[in-house]
Amino acid sequence: MSVADRVPGVSEYGSVDPAPPSKVTDVELLRKTLIDENEKMFQRMRSVFSLRNKRSDDAVQALCDGFGSGSALLRHEIAYVLGQMQNPSAVTKLIKVLRDEKEHVMVRHEAAEALGAIGDRRAVDTLKEFMSDSQPEISESCEVALDLLALCITDENVDW
Ligand SMILES: [Fe+2]
Repeated sequence: MSVADRVPGVSEYGSVDPAPPSKVTDVELLRKTLIDENEKMFQRMRSVFSLRNKRSDDAVQALCDGFGSGSALLRHEIAYVLGQMQNPSAVTKLIKVLRDEKEHVMVRHEAAEALGAIGDRRAVDTLKEFMSDSQPEISESCEVALDLLALCITDENVDW
């Protein structure tokens, strides 16, 4: 029995989300709703959480396509769930999002923390680089992410 079954309103990741997952399970249909700029934000968010719950690589790719959305709120939610999923196939895109200085600061903050949660060392150089970002939301998130990464990587000595 998952957390989601035991506690109403709590997701299977233990989080309380702003919208319940869509009942749709087809990745392509969920992706269509997610990237549809004319769809209601509530429905687009429901697609985000349904894709997250699928935990598959194609669901990660559909979520990454959502970074093309005009809504910073939605993009920030996407970065957050990619951190929850901890799927390394999101790393390249999340690095791009963090590096994009035109991206909204809250989206970049969430991308940095997601990279820490995923725990893939491909993110280390970028996280180190942006630890000296002038915006504290970015620099502090990178610091937290690097500490989390160091905690997760136990197979070798970590010296950053
Ligand atoms: Fe956040």
